[in-house]
Amino acid sequence: MSQNGPPKVQAAHAAAGLVESGMLVGLGSGTTATEMVRALGRRVREYHLHIQSVATSNSTAELARAEGITVRELDDVDELDICLDGADEVDPSFRLIKGRGGALLREKIVAAAARVHVTMITPEKRVDRLGKSMPIPVEVSTVGLRHTERRLRALGAQTSVRMTSDGSLFRTDGGNAIVDCRFTDIDDVAALDSRLQNVVGVFDTGIFLGLCDVLLVGYPGRAERIDKSSAIPSSDSPSLSGA
Ligand code: A5P
Repeated sequence: MSQNGPPKVQAAHAAAGLVESGMLVGLGSGTTATEMVRALGRRVREYHLHIQSVATSNSTAELARAEGITVRELDDVDELDICLDGADEVDPSFRLIKGRGGALLREKIVAAAARVHVTMITPEKRVDRLGKSMPIPVEVSTVGLRHTERRLRALGAQTSVRMTSDGSLFRTDGGNAIVDCRFTDIDDVAALDSRLQNVVGVFDTGIFLGLCDVLLVGYPGRAERIDKSSAIPSSDSPSLSGA
């Protein structure tokens, strides 16, 4: 893979390099995932790899097809061998915030079907505590959106309904809305995730627990691989507690 390109491209190339012939691959969304799909397309052509994929967004599916990668529907396959995706924040226990690009529900559904989860990031996305640098995206129904937003505020969130640059309501590929929820300090991210998930009108949150096994951190000219076995265990890490 190329030694050129900015840090996120290094992480993306390293991720594409993990894919082997015969694999069924989950393809993430966002700018890093876009670089990964391009690199994977080149790898497929260069090494004549036979792979299939499931995409986490319509735009990723379109790009993958353009790169000559077969795209299948999630319900037409069983387990995915690997899922390669970006993230917005990663804590020391490999818990993630995702969804800045608005694909969180579909990303989580695809990730949950994969055996191995690889997350591509740049160093500034590693944080001590989730929610420090960005709000938690929460995917909600457009029906009763203001009511759902009020319920989220009652949990202590400063909320903002995501809009597009032309001022209309942002909609996910599934037609849902996103409420970005900022909390002053998140002590127990798993407990907060449960509370958010219990709100009527909420489909899912951008908090990804137990869905990162390998981190690929991009730097100028190289990528570093960090496996979860070296991560700090958290109460929601069953694989680390031996369960
Ligand atoms: C898409 O909704 C997101 O979850 C992205 O995976 C995440 O925001 C990372 O995106 P970038 O690679 O563009 O930073």
